[in-house]
Amino acid sequence: MFSFFQKKTPLTTIFPEDFVDIHSHFLPNIDDGSKSMDESVAMLRRMHGYGIKNIICTPHVMESVWENSSEAIQQKLDALNAHLKSIDFTGISVTSAAEYMLDANFDSLLKTEKLRPLKDNYILVELSFISAPVNLYETLFNIQIAGYKPVLAHPERYSYFHNDFSAYSKLKAAGCLFQLNLLSLSNYYGSSVTAVTLSLLKQQMIDFAGTDTHKHHHLDFLEKIADRKVLKLIEPVLRANAFFRK
Ligand SMILES: [Fe+2]
Repeated sequence: MFSFFQKKTPLTTIFPEDFVDIHSHFLPNIDDGSKSMDESVAMLRRMHGYGIKNIICTPHVMESVWENSSEAIQQKLDALNAHLKSIDFTGISVTSAAEYMLDANFDSLLKTEKLRPLKDNYILVELSFISAPVNLYETLFNIQIAGYKPVLAHPERYSYFHNDFSAYSKLKAAGCLFQLNLLSLSNYYGSSVTAVTLSLLKQQMIDFAGTDTHKHHHLDFLEKIADRKVLKLIEPVLRANAFFRK
């Protein structure tokens, strides 16, 4: 029987056992994510508390801002894992990929470097929030010619696509997979992001999800998501993330 006192089920209690968070910034002092080893551990403890056991850290790689090399990312990952081992926090697997900004530098990285994939040949890419790159479709083509599959981070957050929903179909036709930020299920990024999120989910255009956690504040908001209809829409996407188990 319906009761006004019926307990809400928060998002943070429904992660499937084999869920992999494919977008996060838990590596300390490498980008605008975690600011210290202690902060990383504290945030990872919260994630573990949600039943999440697999994390892929995806530090930004962005020209003139976060020019992180693959070696630098690996060193930070090794240091974090050594620390987790030293404090006996072993219930969580932490690996790393990267979040590549599709800028002029990316075009040269693609030609000269081995990129850090989420798994196999899947790479996480993001776009500027101001405007799409003029050569976006050429870059998406080149990514696939180089043997990679682009997973576009938070497509719902690019406001320049909001007024032309067909842009999303075009991106998918060009080979992009879509990774939704779970915070977009709330009003965290604003109501137009939430509206686009619901449309993309209803049209089954979202392939995967990620938390894109940078700080505790993000987790505070994640814990507030509990709308039943929204959770029903996101459940199959959460299950799809198991694809990234290594
Ligand atoms: Fe990110």
